[in-house]
Amino acid sequence: MAKVRNLLFEPCIADVSYDFLEQSKLYSFQAKEYGERLNAVMSSDYFMRHISQHSIELGFCEEYDLLKMDEIPPLAQALNHLNRLRNSQRNYDQINKISLQDLSHFLQLSYTITQRFDASLLMPPRRNIPSGGGLYPIDVYLINQHITELPLGVFIYDLFTNKLKLLHAFDLQESLNQALNKTLFAQQKNDIDYSHASAFLVLGAELERSCFKYLDRGIRWAILEAGEIVQAMYLASASLDLGSCAIGGFNDEALAQLIGYQNPSQITLLALALGK
Ligand SMILES: Cc1cc2nc3c(=O)[nH]c(=O)nc-3n(C[C@H](O)[C@H](O)[C@H](O)COP(=O)(O)O)c2cc1C
Repeated sequence: MAKVRNLLFEPCIADVSYDFLEQSKLYSFQAKEYGERLNAVMSSDYFMRHISQHSIELGFCEEYDLLKMDEIPPLAQALNHLNRLRNSQRNYDQINKISLQDLSHFLQLSYTITQRFDASLLMPPRRNIPSGGGLYPIDVYLINQHITELPLGVFIYDLFTNKLKLLHAFDLQESLNQALNKTLFAQQKNDIDYSHASAFLVLGAELERSCFKYLDRGIRWAILEAGEIVQAMYLASASLDLGSCAIGGFNDEALAQLIGYQNPSQITLLALALGK
């Protein structure tokens, strides 16, 4: 008789994949050099000219003009409008902070259940973003800094119940500042106005959710999915007149620890600053 295998409890991520994940992490001792490299690119006319003109070199090929976007339906007009409004905002209002109402709108427009299926069909509920195999490896965490209706702290967003669940509270703003310095290099990096952002979102992946089915290829799907969610967050903030900016340079280990990750298959992929 064929042996019944429980794939959920078998190793599904190869050592070389873990090596890659480790190699792609940023540690605090590397932050200075990393920042210097970024500044070197951004302050150089030579690099910026190359970046702004990069394209795939095709040589000669036939070209066809796309037609103008005349008379598109209202929903398409709204999307077109949002696409044009979307941008990375790095400075936030020193006085006006986002409210719990703003945050509730933001989260439910960014990542939400859109269709619940009959539980007997064993189908996961559909969400606003596509997911390889419907396995949804990403969880969204919130670090509250200035939303006055919530305690200072770290929350996980439960999109099934529309609740924020408090994982860790900070007694003092100073303790939160220390955590932001340690995890997001808030003091070391001058790219974003960290102190006036109302909150930070963190996209973390439980890779095993995807890899138990797709093996190492599932890592790709998880990374792609974080990209989908962050784009949805950008569009949501544009629609609500909020400001947001993705944050890719952070202390992976420290941020993972802050949101309560304990296993190597749990990794932080991206953060986002949110404010007015
Ligand atoms: C994966 C990723 C990581 C990013 N990390 C940072 C970051 O650490 N700091 C920052 O200021 N902007 C960051 N950004 C924002 C980009 O710099 C920005 O999207 C890009 O310059 C294009 O500008 P726009 O978003 O205003 O169109 C990141 C964006 C992405 C998608």
